[in-house]
Amino acid sequence: MVKVLFVCLGNICRSPMAEGLMRQYLVQENIQEVAVYSAATSTWEHGNPVHPGTKAILQREGIDTNQMFSTPVKVSDFAEYDFIIGMDRQNVKDLKARAPHEYQDKIFLYLDAVEGHHNQDVPDPWYTGDFEETYRLLKLGLDPWKIRFLNK
Ligand code: 4NP
Repeated sequence: MVKVLFVCLGNICRSPMAEGLMRQYLVQENIQEVAVYSAATSTWEHGNPVHPGTKAILQREGIDTNQMFSTPVKVSDFAEYDFIIGMDRQNVKDLKARAPHEYQDKIFLYLDAVEGHHNQDVPDPWYTGDFEETYRLLKLGLDPWKIRFLNK
């Protein structure tokens, strides 16, 4: 099993949206050997459900969010997961600062997999209010990330 962890600051807006969209995409593509989860670099929202803006978009796409609750990244996650994918450059910085040196190469920036968007952040709708923009950018990463997961 290839294990993937999407990470953002609060784990209520961007990373659960990435998790839900990718899980649905992998089902549609009939890929059973990749498992996706999400987590937060902070503890601020620990135990909280997804943000209503993310919930509305995922529900529109037919994705249930009722079992999704914010959880912080743990040190053991760096050994556990094969891909640890931050939504923005600050997330990547925070992850790299915490990861043991042998796991640094598991940490990626989400939009680095998307042609024309390298080194760009997935905007945080907590601040922008624009959940649709975040959704559009996350959709662009589904296929390129799928290919990377399968080539692991
Ligand atoms: P996320 O957005 O990192 O995409 O989940 C945020 C959610 C909560 C907060 C910041 C960003 N917060 O400050 O509580």
